[in-house]
Amino acid sequence: MIKNQWYAILDSRQVKKNKLIGVTRLSEKLVFWRDAAGDVHCVYDKCCHRGASLCAGKLVNDHVECPFHGFQYDASGKVTYIPANGAAAKVVENYRVHAYPARDAYGFIWVWYGDYSADLPEIPFFEELKTGFSYGQFSENWNVHYSRAIENQLDVVHLPFVHHNTIGRGNRTLVNGPVVKWQENCMTFYVKNEPDHGQRPQKPNEIADYEKLFHLRFQMPNIWQNIISDQLRVFAAFAPVDEENTHIYLRFYQSFVHVPVLKQLVNALSTVSNRVILHQDRRVVLTQLPKKSEFTMKENLVQGDLPILEYRKKRDQLKRANDAAEPQK
Ligand code: FES
Ligand SMILES: [Fe+2]
Repeated sequence: MIKNQWYAILDSRQVKKNKLIGVTRLSEKLVFWRDAAGDVHCVYDKCCHRGASLCAGKLVNDHVECPFHGFQYDASGKVTYIPANGAAAKVVENYRVHAYPARDAYGFIWVWYGDYSADLPEIPFFEELKTGFSYGQFSENWNVHYSRAIENQLDVVHLPFVHHNTIGRGNRTLVNGPVVKWQENCMTFYVKNEPDHGQRPQKPNEIADYEKLFHLRFQMPNIWQNIISDQLRVFAAFAPVDEENTHIYLRFYQSFVHVPVLKQLVNALSTVSNRVILHQDRRVVLTQLPKKSEFTMKENLVQGDLPILEYRKKRDQLKRANDAAEPQK
C-alpha cells in the first residue's frame, strides 16, 4: 500500500444510513456507517476492550455500540461510554480505535490511508467524468494483489492474445511505443499496435502525433479509464482488499443517452460486454506469480510493457516518499 493517498474502496450505495457494514480493505478490517446527516465514517473494526468485531454491533445516536459489552464509539474512534462503569464515569483517552478519514464522492467511498491531517488533499477523480456522464456498474473480487489487477489494464501487449476475439481482433501483435506521459500522479498512455510485417517497432520517441492515438489513463493510486471517445469511457477502481485480493468496480460511462429508461438499458447492456472482456483478463491474471508486483522483481519485460514499468516506478517512488509513518490503530 502507498500511504497518504485517497483510495476508492466501496460503492457509495454499500454504506447505508443506520447500518454498520464491515469489510476488509487496505489489508485492514474496517467498519463503515453513514450518520443522520449522511456523512460517511470509518473506524478500525476491532473493539479496544476485548477485540470483538464492531460491525456486528449497532448504531446508537450515530455512535457505534460494540455487541459484546456495549462500549460506544464516536466517529473519531474514541470510546464515549462504558456501560459497566456507569454513565457518570469519564472515559480515558487511550480507549479508542483508529479512525480513517472517509468521504462519499463520485459514487465511491474513499478512505484516506495514512497520516492524519486536518487539511487533506482533494480526492483524485478524473475531471472529465465529474459531470455529464451516467454509468452502469458491476464489481467482483479477484484473487490477486491490486498491483497485478492494475497492471493488466496498463498492458497493451496482451490485447491480440487475451482478447483475440473481442477488443484485440486484427492480429495487431507488434507494439509501437507506447508513449507514456505523466501529469502529477496521472499517467496517459497512447497505443499504436499493428500487424507484424517484419518492421521494427517504433520507440516511444519516434512516434509523431501520438496525441491523436487511442489512449488510456491511470490515476494513482487505484483508478483507470479507457478513453473510447469523448462520450464513452470504461472506468475501473481497484480496491485493495489484502495482499492477495482486489475488489474491482467496473463502470461504463456514457454521455450520449439521457432518456431515463433508455439510459439504464444502454448502461446495463454495456456492462454485459465489459464483463465478458474482464473475464478474458481474469482467466490469465489469476495465474500470475507472484500475486503482487514490485519495481524490482525477476520479470523480463519488453518495450511494450512501458506503462507497467512506469506504474511500478511511480508506485515505488510514492511508497518510499510516504513510508515514514505507520497509520496507528
Ligand atoms: S469487546 Fe467490545 S465492549 Fe467488550
Ligand atoms: Fe485485457
